[in-house]
Parts: sequence; structure tokens; C-alpha cells
Amino acid sequence: MQETKEKQLIRADVFKTWQQMNDRSSVERRLQNRLFRSYEWKQSHTVAITISTTLEWDTEEIIRRAWKEGKRVAIPKCFPVTKEMCFYHYESGDTLLPLWKDMLEPISNAESFINKSDIDLIIVPGIAFDKSGYRIGYGGGYYDRYLQSFRGKSISIAAGFQLYSSIPVQPHDIPVDIIITDVCKLYQPIHKKTWEGNTSYIEDKE
Ligand SMILES: Nc1ncnc2c1ncn2[C@@H]1O[C@H](COP(=O)(O)OP(=O)(O)O)[C@@H](O)[C@H]1O
Ligand SMILES: [Mg+2]
Repeated sequence: MQETKEKQLIRADVFKTWQQMNDRSSVERRLQNRLFRSYEWKQSHTVAITISTTLEWDTEEIIRRAWKEGKRVAIPKCFPVTKEMCFYHYESGDTLLPLWKDMLEPISNAESFINKSDIDLIIVPGIAFDKSGYRIGYGGGYYDRYLQSFRGKSISIAAGFQLYSSIPVQPHDIPVDIIITDVCKLYQPIHKKTWEGNTSYIEDKE
């Protein structure tokens, strides 16, 4: 219970900064460009991603870029009773419905369903992260459930104010493989490295 409370405090803290930031679009652009330059992005064919809501980092631009690069885009539909989600193929012009909270979701049908094993990159939304890739999400645990048996790469996008030296981690929490951030010069598979560690990965040339 203590952890749940702590997670709530961190969520509130991050939301406050997110709301108040005045250089949002330049940070967003930098984060997106770093994602597009990453090895994992370049290698991916099917990208799973959410349709962002107001405060979150915009995903519309990322989706457009994916389409432009010929990638297949998968977006989730949430099932609030079981707190599980499924991904569906999303193409330009497809109708989306505001089915749950303020989230836009695909119309689910068998033809557009995308198997978890066919997704090679998942962009995981999150509010706060630690250096091991553990994340605080929106409190539904949807991604913790989905990532349990996910075998592709997982990436989250986070500005400096979303990175904490320590966040509460519970047994069901699943870390992401990589955090793309605007504060480090390198994007890092942070399971293995510290924020400042020398990595052998692509240097981010601005
Ligand atoms: N794999 C799972 N199996 C069962 N319950 C889970 C699982 N993953 C998450 N949960 C439950 O979902 C709820 C929210 O999880 P939490 O990690 O706080 O949310 P989030 O990751 O969205 O911030 C918790 O009550 C947690 O016990
Ligand atoms: Mg969690």
C-alpha cells in the first residue's frame, strides 16, 4: 500500500511539471528525433504505440513517421474488466472511438488484430522512470500485464524531469529495455548501464 501511495505522489509531481513546462514542443521534437535515430526504431517493422492524450508526449508525429517509413502501426484497445489490452493495425484515415476515459481506440476486428509476437517494437507510455527502466504508468497495470510475455524491444520516451533515482517497484512491474531521453547524450539500454555510463551505442548527433 505504501508503494501505491508513493507512486501516486510521483505521478502528481510529474504531472505538475508537465503542465507547467514552457518549452514543450522543442523537448518533444528532440525526443522524437532521438527515437527516429535509434537502432531499434530503424530495425522495426511493426511498432505498437498509443494515441497520446493531452499531457503525454505527442505520438501523432511518431505514427506519421512510421507510416512514411513503411512500418506497420499497432494501437491498443483496453479491456477495463480484465485490465488487459490487444493491439490492432492502424492505418491513415481509420476511425477511432473514444471508448475508455479520454483514450481513442481502434474498432476491433479479427482482420486487424496484431499478435504480440508480430510486434518488434513497443513504445510504452509512462509517467516516471528509474535507471533500470522501471516505470510508473497511469495505474492500470496494462503494460505490466502485456509486457510479461512480450519478446520484442520496449522503449519509453522521457524528459529529464521524469527520471528518478529511485521509484517504488512492485513484483508485477516490468521494466522497459530502453529510455529515450533528452538529458543524456546517448540513448541507453539502461538495464545494463547507468545514466552516465559509457555505452557502445549510437551517439546522438544533433
Ligand atoms: N501481471 C499482473 N498480474 C496481476 N495484477 C497486476 C499485474 N500487473 C499489474 N497488476 C495490478 O495492476 C495494478 C496497477 O499496477 P501499477 O504497477 O501500480 O500500475 P502502472 O504500471 O500502470 O503504473 C496493481 O494493483 C497491480 O497489482
Ligand atoms: Mg506498474
